[in-house]
Amino acid sequence: MICRMLLLLILISSVCAATFVVNVTQSSYQAEENHNITLEWTFTTKPDVSWRFLFIICNLITDHRVFTLYHVHDGVEVPESQDGQFAGRVQSDKDVLREGRIRLHVSRLRTNDSGLYVCDVKTDYGFSSEKCQLNVSAAAGQDQLQRPTENQQPDNRGRIGLVAALGLIAAAAAAAALMIKLISIIHFIKSTEKMTNFRSAVKQTPEGP
Ligand SMILES: *[C@@H]1O[C@H](CO)[C@@H](O)[C@H](O)[C@H]1NC(C)=O
Ligand SMILES: *[C@@H]1O[C@H](CO)[C@@H](O)[C@H](O)[C@H]1NC(C)=O
Ligand SMILES: *[C@@H]1O[C@H](CO)[C@@H](O)[C@H](O)[C@H]1NC(C)=O
Ligand SMILES: *[C@@H]1O[C@H](CO)[C@@H](O)[C@H](O)[C@H]1NC(C)=O
Repeated sequence: MICRMLLLLILISSVCAATFVVNVTQSSYQAEENHNITLEWTFTTKPDVSWRFLFIICNLITDHRVFTLYHVHDGVEVPESQDGQFAGRVQSDKDVLREGRIRLHVSRLRTNDSGLYVCDVKTDYGFSSEKCQLNVSAAAGQDQLQRPTENQQPDNRGRIGLVAALGLIAAAAAAAALMIKLISIIHFIKSTEKMTNFRSAVKQTPEGP
């Protein structure tokens, strides 16, 4: 069904290509969140044409869904067709529609308004479609979180650690010095003991056979 409709549309558009076109005035737009933007399309007009046969549908196509933002049926705007996503945020310029201009003013932009905007236009003298890309970036300064000041503490901790280490080294050095002193004292005592033992041994040996 959809394939057949597409084929029909392709056939109509190829037949009418020479006489009916839809253009975009800009193929890509860049905007910031909460700002407004005006998207614009132009289409071929004919003098003394009846707008009873004008049909327009403008959709936002994202990776997830299709949202209708503007619908004209038999030359009359159909606000009921508008998706809730755009409720109260789209204003059309009716005066320029007769000149073949679709001018859509979208206000209070959201980042999820980003995507492909496609307008299909059908008249009794042709059908065509054209798209433009809109990217809405997040408002600046929203995600700049203030970091708590915690720079001083590691410094202090470092200093305390250094002092502790120095103290330990000093204590170890003192202990080592004490150990050396103790060892030398013990050595001294032992050597004097040997001396006295030797002397007593000499004294105790018999005076001869
Ligand atoms: C956006 O448009 C609305 C009305 O559509 C207006 O009140 C507001 O001032 C505009 N904001 C900017 C930033 O142009
Ligand atoms: C569409 O664009 C083509 C090429 O730029 C231009 O010749 C033509 O007049 C435009 N038509 C409309 C209706 O804007
Ligand atoms: C888009 O974002 C607005 C809030 O900024 C949210 O209310 C709305 O539901 C979102 N729409 C979709 C389709 O995710
Ligand atoms: C818009 O976004 C799309 C994909 O995120 C990227 O390919 C494209 O270059 C962007 N266009 C602009 C005008 O920033």
